[in-house]
Amino acid sequence: MSRGSGLHVAIIMDGNGRWARERGLPRTRGHRAGAAAVRRVVEASPGLGVETLTLYAFSADNWKRPRPEVNALMRLLHRYLRTETAELVERGVRLKLLGRRDRLPTRVLKAAVDAEHATRDGDHLDLQLAIDYSARDALVRAAELLRGSQVPVCPDRFTHALSRAMNAQGAPRDVDLLIRTSGEERLSDFLLWECAYAEFVFTPTLWPDFGGEDLERAVEVFHRRERRFGGLSTRPAAAG
Ligand code: IPE
Ligand code: IPE
Ligand code: MG
Repeated sequence: MSRGSGLHVAIIMDGNGRWARERGLPRTRGHRAGAAAVRRVVEASPGLGVETLTLYAFSADNWKRPRPEVNALMRLLHRYLRTETAELVERGVRLKLLGRRDRLPTRVLKAAVDAEHATRDGDHLDLQLAIDYSARDALVRAAELLRGSQVPVCPDRFTHALSRAMNAQGAPRDVDLLIRTSGEERLSDFLLWECAYAEFVFTPTLWPDFGGEDLERAVEVFHRRERRFGGLSTRPAAAG
């Protein structure tokens, strides 16, 4: 698959806590089960025409959670990065970190940077892990990059310049399909700019129960949708 021809799928991986509560387990067990679901979607993605997969792993607002839960999440992220890198290389997955890097525990950041380096030649799937991510924060930083440069006044050129500034800090291309699990139907400050024309698929499935078949179903739903980007339908009108 040549770069640029596949889908960009973004997933808000939600419902770990509820999954654990349903089983009378601590929330952290839900997060652990969530890591296994990450493995399943990464494995399934290339076969479904997904070229870029962006996963919301930890939002900038998730720092508000109780310290023990934040620590457990950081430990899990560290473990995921350390234990999965070899497998990612094997599968031709190129990993990239999205979000702020300055507030992460040093060992998490180091593991992420090492994984980015080790997987840099992967050409089957771009996996973007959003950690300490806030779309508003990304937009503010892009605007700051533009400050001092010759900011174009023409709206189209300004949009182009802002897109370039978003890309310069590692933000992804436009999202084709946005999936959120656990029945919640909101963006929670994820990829606000990139989702301008994304198709949304919400599923009640809790993230730890999500797998390759769920991803396949969501991609099928996506292919049945008609994207018009503000234009008119190109599908033949129904008879009658
Ligand atoms: C998503 O699951 C994982 C993160 C936000 C890190 P939650 O922890 O939000 O699970 P619920 O929404 O409480 O069930
Ligand atoms: C969004 O889920 C963040 C991640 C999945 C990492 P949250 O569970 O934090 O979002 P809200 O608080 O329900 O909007
Ligand atoms: Mg949640």
